[in-house]
Amino acid sequence: MPVRIHHVGVAVTNLDESILLYRSAFGAELVHRATNEKEGLEAAFLRMGDGEVELMTPLREDSPVGKFMAKRGPGFHHVAYGVSDIESALAEARAAGLELIDNEPRVGMHGARIAFLHPKSVGGVLTELVEI
Ligand code: CO
Repeated sequence: MPVRIHHVGVAVTNLDESILLYRSAFGAELVHRATNEKEGLEAAFLRMGDGEVELMTPLREDSPVGKFMAKRGPGFHHVAYGVSDIESALAEARAAGLELIDNEPRVGMHGARIAFLHPKSVGGVLTELVEI
């Protein structure tokens, strides 16, 4: 099902500082930055070679990322696998017995269709499928 690692999501305290750090330390290139008021987060996507890192910071303490940060602090948040057909990837995940957070694909912050799988059925790692 997964064709490749698409991006890694990292929760950060200060988005501007983290973007500067990733640019200077790794030569990462900022490709997209957006705010999602509904989910209560601001995210920046930086290209690193043929993959990306998604830096994300909460807008509110009671948002999903805000709660994550309060509980676990900044750091690794999720991995995203790129798939060519998200409908069939979700069907395969469901058939394999994985617990889905999103039963249907939805549009993610960078415009692609995404769906999350529950960490407890994927080795404790919040896992995102992204259609590429
Ligand atoms: Co992501």
